[in-house]
Amino acid sequence: MTHPLKDAAVAIQARAYAPYSKFRVGAALSTPSGAVYAGCNVENVAYPEGTCAEAGAIAAMVAGGETELAAVCIVSDSPLPCPPCGGCRQKLAEFGKPEVEVTMVGASGETLMMTLSELLPGAFSADHME
Ligand code: THU
Repeated sequence: MTHPLKDAAVAIQARAYAPYSKFRVGAALSTPSGAVYAGCNVENVAYPEGTCAEAGAIAAMVAGGETELAAVCIVSDSPLPCPPCGGCRQKLAEFGKPEVEVTMVGASGETLMMTLSELLPGAFSADHME
């Protein structure tokens, strides 16, 4: 499967810092400009202080001056496609329209595609703050 976002996610997964869980995750996202941003999980000895790969990719996008997701890809050590955790679903929903596709690729190659609204139906959004 040739998938530029998958290639970026796999490349950054190799840099994951996951000495505690040993579960390496890479995430890559594209924006409407065509730029690609990527992140990996970064754990901490104080376990809750670790950050997910998706959070790293989002931080890279914002640091790069962009705030709109076009597509997302997540890879991990699991043979099964790794879905984003609940917190990352909310983080992704902050920057992506409901129809944005998230591709999850397992180490076995199995692929699952879901939209942001399928991952987080009824998301809390800025609309609720008005
Ligand atoms: N992890 C991610 O980076 N993204 C996910 O979507 C699921 C979980 C990380 C967090 C932690 O470093 C490790 O995987 C095990 O939970």
